[in-house]
Amino acid sequence: MNAITRLATAVSLASLFPLTALAADSKGTVEVVHWWTSGGEAAAVKVLRELVEKDGYTWKDSAVAGGAGSAAMTVLKTRVVSGNPPGAAQIKGPDLQEWGALDLLAPLDDVAKANNWDGLLSKTVANTMKYDGHYVAVPVNIHRVNWLWINPAVFKKAGIDKAPTTLDELYAAGDKLKAAGFTPLAHGGQPWQDSTVFEGLVLGIMGAEGYHKAFVENDEATLTSPKMTEVFTALKKLSTYMDDNRAGRDWNLATAEVIDGKAGMQIMGDWAKSEWTAAGKVAGKDYQCVPMPGTAGSYTYNIDSMAMFKLKNEGDIAAQHDLARIALEPEFQYVFNQNKGSIPVRSDLDMSKFDSCAQASMKDFQAADKAGKLEPSMAHSMATNLAVQGAIFDVVTNFMADKNADPSKAGAQMAAAIKSAQ
Ligand code: BGC
Repeated sequence: MNAITRLATAVSLASLFPLTALAADSKGTVEVVHWWTSGGEAAAVKVLRELVEKDGYTWKDSAVAGGAGSAAMTVLKTRVVSGNPPGAAQIKGPDLQEWGALDLLAPLDDVAKANNWDGLLSKTVANTMKYDGHYVAVPVNIHRVNWLWINPAVFKKAGIDKAPTTLDELYAAGDKLKAAGFTPLAHGGQPWQDSTVFEGLVLGIMGAEGYHKAFVENDEATLTSPKMTEVFTALKKLSTYMDDNRAGRDWNLATAEVIDGKAGMQIMGDWAKSEWTAAGKVAGKDYQCVPMPGTAGSYTYNIDSMAMFKLKNEGDIAAQHDLARIALEPEFQYVFNQNKGSIPVRSDLDMSKFDSCAQASMKDFQAADKAGKLEPSMAHSMATNLAVQGAIFDVVTNFMADKNADPSKAGAQMAAAIKSAQ
């Protein structure tokens, strides 16, 4: 059974007619399911809430903690299966197609037309937001995933004078940090975090083309190639720079270790920057952002978007449309993205208002787009459906948990796991 059929079966067990919540006031309510719960993320989503409330609508916050959103997606499915969908939910990438196929998402074409979304968004972004040619979600940002975050003060103490650009330099920095008593690579032990590091290695070792074949096409020859053995060998090596007690640790706690000077580096998407910003730290001074070693010139993107569910109450529908309209307004795009660590999803804004990491991200996004090196993040649900992603996560996390795992066997395990998830 493929992912769409699985979701459809679950949903068909319940009424497809949502229980329309009574709006708390006459103007309408939008309930929003999202997973932005870290300090920096909460500061970012507050911007959206305040703008919706300023327009006289009620924001019902349904945050579900859990990095990368798998807990939020489980809650969302349960809500929909019981006939009680929220007005809006953070749904991303190919998953939008699956929800769209169930005919549960409200088209946003009127808002899109009135606000020129086609003119404002790049084709890559616009296409991701459309199901069957209709907008079913509004994008709020673009995150870059292939970043390495560095605490330069810690580097200095460990005698490292430059940011690593290759894997060998990364290992050398790791050795020096370890010798100086620091955790070289801060990391939380959760499958999506493991796969965030893994996909960075795939990009670095196999290039954008190999990455595409592995994660977008799920090409068996690529998944089982000697290059994939090299990737797993590197993953094993990188794990030796992570703290052994990391099981279950949230990503923002790992970021805090770098901010607090206990660890030297973290491989993480630029939502990590939201924590640095919330801690009052300045890009280029208190911390450095560089492409994950080996991946300069390539860009793994992760677009956050809000999808709207079909509702009946006119006021609540108006609230959904208001949220969708606000999300692309410059006022929101500037402040939200400065807090979130991402870059604006529209390309006509003044990037001088952003810090050096965001400016580099925008420049690299546009260059990678031109060079055909813009790739959707697998770990952040942009490259495959969630069933295939789950299969990859399992193989990667089991591999990292088993010190005796054989790098030359992991690729074949992954190819088999993907096949049975398809
Ligand atoms: C989302 C980000 C979020 C991060 C950590 C990513 O998948 O796109 O918006 O900050 O997960 O939860």
